[in-house]
Amino acid sequence: MTALKFDFANCFSAAIGEKGLDEKNLAALREEIVAAVRHCNDTRGEGMTGWYELPYETEQVEKILNSAAAKKGKFDDVVVLGIGGSALGTIALRTALVHPFHNMLPNDKRGGLPRLHVLDNIDPDQLAAFFADVIDFSRTLFIVISKSGSTAETMSQFLLAVELIENKLGKDKIKDHLIAITDKAKGVLRPIADDWGLESYVIDDGVGGRFSVLSPVGLLPAALCGMDIEALLAGAAEMDEICKTEDFMKNPAALFAAIHFLADRDKNARLSVMMPYASGLKDVADWYCQLWAESLGKAVHDDGTPAFVGSTPVKALGATDQHSQVQMYTEGPFDKVTVFVGVEKFEKTLTIPSRFGTVDALAYLNGRTFNELMDAERVGTELALCEAHRMNMTITLPEVNANTVGQLFFMLEVATAIAGKLYKIDAFNQPGVEGGKIAAYAQMGRKGYEAKAKEIAARPAKNAKFLL
Ligand code: PA5
Repeated sequence: MTALKFDFANCFSAAIGEKGLDEKNLAALREEIVAAVRHCNDTRGEGMTGWYELPYETEQVEKILNSAAAKKGKFDDVVVLGIGGSALGTIALRTALVHPFHNMLPNDKRGGLPRLHVLDNIDPDQLAAFFADVIDFSRTLFIVISKSGSTAETMSQFLLAVELIENKLGKDKIKDHLIAITDKAKGVLRPIADDWGLESYVIDDGVGGRFSVLSPVGLLPAALCGMDIEALLAGAAEMDEICKTEDFMKNPAALFAAIHFLADRDKNARLSVMMPYASGLKDVADWYCQLWAESLGKAVHDDGTPAFVGSTPVKALGATDQHSQVQMYTEGPFDKVTVFVGVEKFEKTLTIPSRFGTVDALAYLNGRTFNELMDAERVGTELALCEAHRMNMTITLPEVNANTVGQLFFMLEVATAIAGKLYKIDAFNQPGVEGGKIAAYAQMGRKGYEAKAKEIAARPAKNAKFLL
């Protein structure tokens, strides 16, 4: 096992002065942290924590591996129809684990593996262009993914894809070009899948969208595109062991959660910036933003009292965002915890050519590597944040591979669950997402939403002086 490393030291006052956390406050939170870890251990697999068991699931994984093997060479494109938790994990996997330009490579350079597209939106220009100009339907496999089987964005993508498959290839070909991943019983997708005899997979009851990357939701597209899903799950299982310990000073998920909680409570640091220094991990930061935001931004505590809690996640990319956001991080308000994600060994070592040796402004780069430069930029930003008295932590991956990405996903999922307990909220619901969905259904005339439509129509007119 090549384990991830965690460095939380720069979140404390010994490293960054009085803007840092007080170690005594961490010690004082001991009982709550231990109780949170114990609760997560004792209830694992229950209710909405079925995702804890995903690293050990074998039945669907075997079916996925067999399906991927049987489909090898048959498709040039795999298209995921889905949004949010049904899309972001797959995007993160693609960015991290296949060739950085996988979708741009010719077939032979992709080793005969299909390109992977994840729609994740309903922009009409983008959808129209994608379906008209990017794929050949006869060589495309669609995977529709929706736990609820009713999300408007996903179902509209699905309706469009089905119509186009039918028009271009004929109705009888739909089942050769469409797979469904959904709940075992709920929603309209399951009966359609059964009716049409589609290959299908189940998202277990206890696995919410944002915790589903290690379920068929992420695993099937990953396996179809050649990613090592067994190594991914093995990495998650290794991290699961580490994150079970109640000795919280040895538990990275517990420390990650507790530090963010204390930063918010004691230091008003209400933003969690994830900043990987590896382009391959860029979309892990995006996935983390959904996981952290949808899980922890809650209006009520477990006992029903008002909460309005949670730290707001932000994604950034090193070194790119040093030239965009870091000015704010070093000199703006003291409201952030920055989570650097570093990589010890990139797959390639790339040397910067030695030219203009007499020009001081360039000579220092001569013969050095991009790897060294990336590292220097990350450490440089870490030092700059410390000098500016800003809380920051670093997670280091020995390298970016399926095992280490599996570890990272799982650590962040467990940290989210533990943070939910510290905030005393339900980390596994998302009532705040419903408001917008219901209002959209009402505007689109969905049956059952007539009252909401009337309510929207009766809203007072907007103050005209602000309408330009
Ligand atoms: O994490 C979640 O639960 C959400 O982000 C969902 O994944 C998203 O709303 C899509 O839902 P569904 O998979 O039911 O279509």
